[in-house]
Amino acid sequence: MKITVVGAGNVGATCADVLATREVANEVVVVDIKEGLAEGKSLDIWQKAPINLYDSRTIGATNDYSKSAGSEVVVITSGLPRKPGMSRDDLIETNAGIVKSVTENVIQHSPDAIIIVVSNPLDVMTYQAHLTAGKSRNQVMGMAGILDTARYRAFLAEAMNVSPKDIQAVLMGGHGDTMVPLPRYTTVGGIPVTELIEADKLNAIIDRTKVGGGELVKLMGTSAWYAPGSAAAQMAEAIVRDQRRVFPVCTRLEGEYGIDGVYLGVPVILGKNGIEKVIELDLNDDEKALLETSRGHVKEVMEVLDRLNS
Ligand code: NAI
Ligand code: 2OP
Repeated sequence: MKITVVGAGNVGATCADVLATREVANEVVVVDIKEGLAEGKSLDIWQKAPINLYDSRTIGATNDYSKSAGSEVVVITSGLPRKPGMSRDDLIETNAGIVKSVTENVIQHSPDAIIIVVSNPLDVMTYQAHLTAGKSRNQVMGMAGILDTARYRAFLAEAMNVSPKDIQAVLMGGHGDTMVPLPRYTTVGGIPVTELIEADKLNAIIDRTKVGGGELVKLMGTSAWYAPGSAAAQMAEAIVRDQRRVFPVCTRLEGEYGIDGVYLGVPVILGKNGIEKVIELDLNDDEKALLETSRGHVKEVMEVLDRLNS
């Protein structure tokens, strides 16, 4: 069984490394446009196998999608990352062209593959891949919610001095500053978070989560990769192992939450068919208003893409 990761940069290489180390697939193929990069990183990951004890093979290819043929899942990480001062939306023109051409190649060689998009601006690049692939919505999705939720959970674990393993949370909306963390659906070992942390501290954590990607861009001069690569690998694993995990995932809403035709993060069940089910939460009025703001923002950027494609 084969999984392909397109883009051997920071996020793609991390994703391939996690997939191989966890033996999620027998073969992890990495494709990049830059000569030798995917081959080099794949060889390096393979040479780690005798140390970390795994037998998944990693195979690199420079722009040669024949090596990816028959992949069950393809993770698309190709595209420019943010630089300080840039928003994710500033990447749209360049990354839309990349995601479009990559998706065409992917579909040609792996017509049945489930596609996980990582490239930014995430919600709109998922839209681009979905348009190009022409597949049903359960087979083309975007990774952002697992990452954003992980940041929220990590900040909470730190503030409360508890294990991040015991923090469960849901976060919805677009992958940007309008994302919607949901304290009402956040628990610590089954206890509602609001019973364990003061409201002002929780609000500060929510605010930090919303700009969590930007915090790392400021520190490093480029965007994050360890958590994003691991998050994409976790989605691929849930699909190929038919785990039916419940994760926030970017999908095209088709009437859920009263929204139609907009790509947003919502809780879903991930299994062998990709998105097996979109879970509809009973949001209160404040939460609905935040989701509506996020919908409006993503819709505007989708319209920019529509103009680019017209
Ligand atoms: P990077 O610059 O380290 O890697 C991108 C790779 O894509 C490069 O190796 C480049 O050669 C390759 N590439 C460019 N055009 C290509 C093409 N046509 N075909 C194949 N490969 C191509 O960037 P990084 O940090 O890995 O980020 C990748 C993307 O993921 C960015 O758009 C970034 O904004 C996004 N991202 C999204 C996150 C999310 O939560 N959805 C989190 C982190 C990053
Ligand atoms: C992140 O959230 C920039 O989307 C990227 O780290």
